[in-house]
Amino acid sequence: MIKIAPSILSANFSNLGKDIKLLEKGGADWIHLDVMDGNFVPNITFGPIVIKSLRKITRLPLDAHLMIQKPERYIEDFKNSGVDNLTVHLEATTHLHRTVSQIKKLGMKAGVSINPSTPAISLREILPFVDLVLVMTVNPGFGGQTFIPTMIRKIQEIALMIESSGNKIELQVDGGVDETNIKKIYEAGATISVTGYSIFSKKNIPNAIKKLKSLTK
Ligand code: DX5
Ligand code: ZN
Repeated sequence: MIKIAPSILSANFSNLGKDIKLLEKGGADWIHLDVMDGNFVPNITFGPIVIKSLRKITRLPLDAHLMIQKPERYIEDFKNSGVDNLTVHLEATTHLHRTVSQIKKLGMKAGVSINPSTPAISLREILPFVDLVLVMTVNPGFGGQTFIPTMIRKIQEIALMIESSGNKIELQVDGGVDETNIKKIYEAGATISVTGYSIFSKKNIPNAIKKLKSLTK
């Protein structure tokens, strides 16, 4: 069964604590935190100061997705905010191996994310060093976008790369995942899926999470 990491990008920011409790009730595995700088992506969201307050109210793993230029500048700040997994974009840092090493040195799990048009093969050299690969199935920056169907083949390709690496690496998919495509991404090799709009747009958030998981039994 697939793990679910709800993205709070589509949550009710006037009452995040209440929404986090609903995610826990629905059996969410992680909480996905979309950090955006208005530079790497057109949108601006939140940073370590908000994450620090969320850390106090949940024991779920905090999974930070940094859609920011030069993320290496903020690794320590995110460590101090209490994140468990820190994912950076391959396209946003010049020295990816050094950035991933810094993340792991501070005791966090290290993830690398690639945009839809970045080929799977670009992960080859960094794969042995990461705990997670985050495949973007929309162009990053906004929730509620449409899943790019050609990304299924890319997920399959990366799943094969991970398998032949022999390393234990989470294959996370992010963007436009809903009840119409979650089974396909699971069968393609995804081990964990981010879901934002498809959960927060429903009346019953806990049931929406349970429904998505049940589709990959
Ligand atoms: C987009 C973010 C995603 C997004 C997922 O840049 O990285 O995590 O919030 O949300 P949905 O599921 O609404 O596409
Ligand atoms: Zn994300």
